[in-house]
Amino acid sequence: MLIKTKRSYELTENQVTDETIYQGRRKVLKQLGFISASALLGSNTLATTASADETVFKTKALQFSSSNSSTISEQFTPEHKVISHNNFYEFGAKKDQPQKLAQNFKVEPWQLKVSGEVNKPFTLDYEQLFSSFTIEERIYRLRCVEAWSMVIPWLGFRLADLIKKAEPNSKAKYVAFKTLYDPEQMPGQANRYLGGGIKYPYVEGLRIDEAMHDLSILSVGLYGKTLPPQNGAPIRLVTPWKYGFKSIKSIVEIKLVERKPKTTWNKLAPNEYGFYANVNPEVDHPRWSQGSERRLTSGGLFARNRIKTQMFNGYGEDVASLYQGMNLRKHY
Ligand code: MTE
Repeated sequence: MLIKTKRSYELTENQVTDETIYQGRRKVLKQLGFISASALLGSNTLATTASADETVFKTKALQFSSSNSSTISEQFTPEHKVISHNNFYEFGAKKDQPQKLAQNFKVEPWQLKVSGEVNKPFTLDYEQLFSSFTIEERIYRLRCVEAWSMVIPWLGFRLADLIKKAEPNSKAKYVAFKTLYDPEQMPGQANRYLGGGIKYPYVEGLRIDEAMHDLSILSVGLYGKTLPPQNGAPIRLVTPWKYGFKSIKSIVEIKLVERKPKTTWNKLAPNEYGFYANVNPEVDHPRWSQGSERRLTSGGLFARNRIKTQMFNGYGEDVASLYQGMNLRKHY
C-alpha cells in the first residue's frame, strides 16, 4: 500500500517548484499492479484527485535563502534529467552511458537476501519488494560528491522496516549492502575501462543507527513509476544527508554485521571518500570545494543554479545527533 505522509524534514510538494505538475500515479498503479487505487489515495495523500485514474500533483514554489543571500527556487529536477544524468559505473563511468547501456537490464526474477546477525533471515523476490512494506513518497535532495545535486520524488519504504523484520541480534552494529554482480548484463563489470576501474560488486555500508533512521529508505521508484534501470532498479538505497555514492543501486544483499564493512569508493581512494560521507560544506574534497553545488533544474545551460551546500544536505536537524561528539573532519 502506498501512503503519503509528511515529516518535518521532507520537502513537501508545496515546497517545491511553482510550475511543476507531474502526472504518473496512474503509471505506478499499473506498473506496480499489486497496489490498489484505494490504498494509493489514502487520507494522507497530497494528491488532488480527479479520478483514481487521473491523479495530478500541483506544486508551489519554495524560495530558500542560502547564506550568501542569493535565493533560488528549490525545484524538482525534471524527470528527463533524473534518468539521463547518472552515476552507475556498472553501465559505464560517463553520465550518459547508464541510460543507454542499461536498457536491457533484467530485473525479473530478482532476489534480495537479508541475512547476517539476525534471528530471522529472509529473501524477497521481485514482487515482494513492492508488497512487503508500506511504500510512500519522499521528496529528497540528492547531493553527489562531485558537487551537483537534484531534487527527486522517490517511492520507497523505510530501511528500518526491512531490518526490523529480520530481527537483528545484539552483534548487529553495521549494515552491509551489495549490488548485483553480473558481468554479462553489466558491461562495466566486464570491461575495466568502461567500469571506471572499480572492483565489483559495488558495496556500501551504514552504521546500524544510520540505517534505522527514518530518513533512510530503500527506493523502488521515482516520479510515480518503478525505477528505471539506470537509477538502480529494482531497489536502491537513498540516504539524503550523505553523498550520493552511499546510495547503492540494484541491491541483492543486505547483511547485518558486527564490524564496519568495506565500501567501494573508500577502498578505491580512502583519502578522498570516507565511510561516513556526510554532506559537509566545511570539509572539501582534496581536489575540489564542497562549499557549493550545481543544482540540476529545468533551466538550461546558463541557468543560475549554483547554490551553497548545506550541512548534512539540509537534514541536520534530523541527523546531526547521530554524530554528536565526532570529529567530522576525521570521519569524513
Ligand atoms: N551504485 C552502484 N552500484 N554503482 C554506482 O556506480 N554510483 C553512486 C550511487 N550508487 C553508483 C551507485 C553515485 S556516485 C551516485 S551520485 C548515485 O548512485 C547516483 O544516483 P542517480 O544516478 O540515480 O542520480
